[in-house]
Amino acid sequence: MTDTPRFDAGPEDAKDPDDTSSNPSTAPALGDIIATRFSRRHMIRGTLGTAAIAAMTGNSLLGVLESPARAGQSAFNFAEIEHGVDETHHVSPGYDADILIRWGDPVLPDAPAFDPADQTPQGQARQFGYNNDFVGFVPLPYGSKSPNRGLLCVNHEYTSAPVMFPSGFSDTRRIQVEMAAHGGSIIEIARGADGRWSVDNGSSYARRISASTPIRISGPAAGHARMKTSADPTGTRVLGTVNNCAGGITPWGTYLMAEENFNHYFIGSLKGHPEHRNYKRYGLPTGRYAWGRADRRWDIDKEPNEPSRFGWIVEVDALNPASAPVKRTALGRFKHEGAETVVNGDGRVVIYSGDDQRFDYLYRFVSRDRVDPENRQANMDLLDNGTLSVARFEADGSMTWLDLVWGQGPLTPHNGFSSQADVLIETRRASDLLGATPLDRPEDVQPNPATGKVYLNLTNNSRRKAENTDTVNRREKNIWGQIVELSPPGGDHAAATFAWDILVQCGNPNRPETRAIWHPDTSANGWFACPDNAAVDAEGRLWIATDQGGNWSRASGTADGLWALATSGAERGTGRMFFRVPVGAELCGPCFTPDGETLFLAVQHPGTDGTKRYAAFGRRSTFEDPATRWPDFKDGIPPRPSIVVITKQGGGPIGG
Ligand code: FEO
Ligand code: CA
Ligand code: CA
Ligand code: CA
Repeated sequence: MTDTPRFDAGPEDAKDPDDTSSNPSTAPALGDIIATRFSRRHMIRGTLGTAAIAAMTGNSLLGVLESPARAGQSAFNFAEIEHGVDETHHVSPGYDADILIRWGDPVLPDAPAFDPADQTPQGQARQFGYNNDFVGFVPLPYGSKSPNRGLLCVNHEYTSAPVMFPSGFSDTRRIQVEMAAHGGSIIEIARGADGRWSVDNGSSYARRISASTPIRISGPAAGHARMKTSADPTGTRVLGTVNNCAGGITPWGTYLMAEENFNHYFIGSLKGHPEHRNYKRYGLPTGRYAWGRADRRWDIDKEPNEPSRFGWIVEVDALNPASAPVKRTALGRFKHEGAETVVNGDGRVVIYSGDDQRFDYLYRFVSRDRVDPENRQANMDLLDNGTLSVARFEADGSMTWLDLVWGQGPLTPHNGFSSQADVLIETRRASDLLGATPLDRPEDVQPNPATGKVYLNLTNNSRRKAENTDTVNRREKNIWGQIVELSPPGGDHAAATFAWDILVQCGNPNRPETRAIWHPDTSANGWFACPDNAAVDAEGRLWIATDQGGNWSRASGTADGLWALATSGAERGTGRMFFRVPVGAELCGPCFTPDGETLFLAVQHPGTDGTKRYAAFGRRSTFEDPATRWPDFKDGIPPRPSIVVITKQGGGPIGG
């Protein structure tokens, strides 16, 4: 951002939720923990020999699980790329990385051609939005496992004004275009005889969801007095969804959009505000995007209840573009990173979701009713009834799910909760009272149906102090993050207690002060920092996308990217670098087709993060002078967040 900002949102911090850290209870829930459980794991660094690892492999400490990979072979078979930073993307040799769709490309019929110098809200509402994050694939026809045709469901998390708009762009129009650039896109895509993917611009499934789309509110908080506004006296209908970060695809083909940093859109004052305690815990309002300057509902002085209508999971029927999306309040209100789904052995659906803020929590929703695989329509309101729980991690390697149920424990009128709606509207405060474990920014939580395990990405937490470290969050000033493996007993995702283990403690294994934990054979490029999104491929292998934010030069020195990560056998804890983003971007998405032969990646905010500290670029990006013009590299065209589609030359599964 220049000294005289044109807009409130600077690209460096627009995506960083950390500066509104709002959990007052940062002391470890575990008390003064002596990390006995991990004293041995702590040794597993680059300096430890392979023989020592081999000796430890097979004991319960390393939690060996049945590998989905072929016995005796490496789980992955591809040539690594190298750490580095430059203006473009890089993929493992032997793979194609094609641009499928970019910000401003058409989604709906009659979308105008992309004209970055003269954007309109009407045009943006028909074009692919900004900052693609979650990517989900629904095979077509519905119910098939087609690897060649399907619906791609893509979130547009936020906007990066300084590289989106030229100097002099009006503030009101900027806000209107930004509102249209948020939300999500549903596009139909197909793989042609030449093996290349393309967008079907005439598809009847094509859809744009934005910050203005009418959305229904359902579940226990729907219709509650705290959900009512002057525009919606019923408390059941809201316009739009914002800051849709990661998400999920349900077994019945709906698309879950997670509302994350919703606090940044609002302006106003908390002084004397009736929702003061509620909003303070969510870091409201920051005024970063200041949409309230153009639209009164984003001003908490004028519409005091509007923020309680954000911070939910939105369910969209991807197969019915005429259907209203639904905010499912039973899944709680917080800064939802994502909403990954797994069907439990008993047929109930389980959804994991992290609250991405320093010192916030991990959540789980278990549906009351079972998924009906034969009757799609019967599942359409499944997410309105169930039990939301929050995680407490114990030092002995167990974890307990604490139910967020009104009337139980401290969740009573004595603490200001008069109904389940109150518990859900103030999910964070309810979880504080239950004694949940404050974590190092929970990002994606990825179940692996092949093994029954779940992977929790804790991306970083530079504000953790030595006195509030614990066995899950073991490092003070943690700028590298860690991946936690959760083990439901017998694969029962609805169980009251799980086991947990650290899979990797990220950072540079060649710098002992980082206390990084990797397999000792990890290559010079196989380690990473700041795990964010995750995906499991058709063979049950884990892939990790990173987001180091503006601190990438300190955290690792390499641009973000995609790494394959072994989770079992002798390779457990070994990473391998597969894809790298252009300077200033983070990597989101990863999403495989059912056959594992196509990988969709979302390159978010190219040219923004940390570029002012990168010597080769030496400046903060602007529309006129960005750090990169990826992927078009044309004068006058700013960098464009884009979906990249990866296929193997000659065919075959991604990663070998
Ligand atoms: Fe939007 Fe938590 O990343
Ligand atoms: Ca994320
Ligand atoms: Ca994921
Ligand atoms: Ca991110």
